[in-house]
Amino acid sequence: MKVLSVTSECVPLVKTGGLADVAGALPAALAGHGVEMRTILPGYPAVMAAQGQGPVLREIADLFGGPARILRGMLDGTVLYVLDAPHLYGRDGTPYLGPDGKDWPDNPQRFAALDRAAALIAAEGIEGWRPQILHLHDWQAGLTPVYLRQLGVRDVRSLLTIHNIAFQGLAPAHLLGALQLPAHLFNPQGFEYWGRISALKAGIVFADKVSTVSPTYAEELLTPEFGMGMQGVLAGRAGDFTGILNGIDLDVWQPPFDKPAGKVPLRRALRAEFGLPEAAGPLCVVISRLTGQKGLDLLLEALPVLLDCGGQLAVLGSGDAGLEAAFRDAAARHPGVALRIGYDEDLAHRMIAGGDAILVPSRFEPCGLTQLYGLRFGTLPVVSLTGGLADTVINASAAGVAAGVATGLQFHPVDAPALSRALRRLCALWQQPKLWQRMVRNAMAQPVGWDASAQTYADLFRTMTD
Ligand code: ADP
Ligand code: GLC
Repeated sequence: MKVLSVTSECVPLVKTGGLADVAGALPAALAGHGVEMRTILPGYPAVMAAQGQGPVLREIADLFGGPARILRGMLDGTVLYVLDAPHLYGRDGTPYLGPDGKDWPDNPQRFAALDRAAALIAAEGIEGWRPQILHLHDWQAGLTPVYLRQLGVRDVRSLLTIHNIAFQGLAPAHLLGALQLPAHLFNPQGFEYWGRISALKAGIVFADKVSTVSPTYAEELLTPEFGMGMQGVLAGRAGDFTGILNGIDLDVWQPPFDKPAGKVPLRRALRAEFGLPEAAGPLCVVISRLTGQKGLDLLLEALPVLLDCGGQLAVLGSGDAGLEAAFRDAAARHPGVALRIGYDEDLAHRMIAGGDAILVPSRFEPCGLTQLYGLRFGTLPVVSLTGGLADTVINASAAGVAAGVATGLQFHPVDAPALSRALRRLCALWQQPKLWQRMVRNAMAQPVGWDASAQTYADLFRTMTD
């Protein structure tokens, strides 16, 4: 089975969030299930520096305003196609934002170019290889099925995976021509969304199948509360829409201990690194984008409960200026709170390893990866009851504890009082070391790797080509 993954980010080359982890991990995970997955990725500076030396496989004279080339790279045993288009990608900043923190004004063209290149590969093949399926990630790949139709490609299927419905790839209608989109599909049954072009809607409407990254988020997306306006469009595809849970890379997230006691020296080292004193309560960690989605303003409100029971908080993240300032302020006022603003993969590992609990109070969470890291390392997740957080944590309710199966704490509704109650319960569990250690062992035994979901993807791909 030959599959081309179309993605705007991929570890270890470029990452702003969990999408990069998923796109990076799937090819290896699927290899054992009879799927050969190759990847096409924009040639941002970091990608060109690492993978830009490969042979030129295809030249495109004009791709939305300039010449482009498809180069061959290789990533951890996976073939990578790099779309080199300096007029679109040859600039500093993140994949989506300029140095001023604003969306690149030509984002519609930048990702339409990726989609166009993927559709060309589907149409013509590349170096003698032709995919049977395109695996499209988020709005950045959403226009691909439209270009497939336009190029008359009828024998290549597509799966759109929604990692986050909040990003819908909207563009003004006057770009129809510039993006080489067929005007007759610009209507409510097509990719028009309230007078604008939506690349995400294009993917939802025109891909053969649609998935998202957890079963619960798949249900939530059909409701007005979580669908963010796309619930009706998704309902129209309900028969072709499923949720497949993300996994994590077990080699990258491999605890250096196999018993709860193994955490003790790592916790001590983590406290030292953050300048936190020894304490009677649990050391809680947060590793996150600091945005409204992640609900960390609720944590600021609930903080006194944690500190009152001798608990501590270490935060690693960056994002909203207001949230950064609020956490800075909390760290300055409370000796039990410490903060690192920035992005640091190694520190994230040390925090997961040394922490006692990881807090993920998201308002919505399509899947979430850090609670999975927490499970693997016996760092008990405290999560809101939503999306993938609902699917991956077994709540230490009275029943969960009695049955001896709990792996963490879930709270609902997603507000500060409910989070406060969960933190109080966390502290109470901490006072019962036998119970806590039982939970740590349960957590560490959870199957959080890719195996089951890779099989599900492989099965889905097979049904698509039958
Ligand atoms: P999202 O994709 O919505 O940001 P996920 O939980 O799926 O949420 O994935 C976030 C990924 O980014 C995880 O791998 C997490 O460890 C990582 N991450 C987030 N913020 C930071 C940071 N400041 N430093 C290091 N890693 C981070
Ligand atoms: C998105 C979601 C996150 C998910 C990730 C990978 O960024 O916000 O919940 O884990 O994609 O699918």
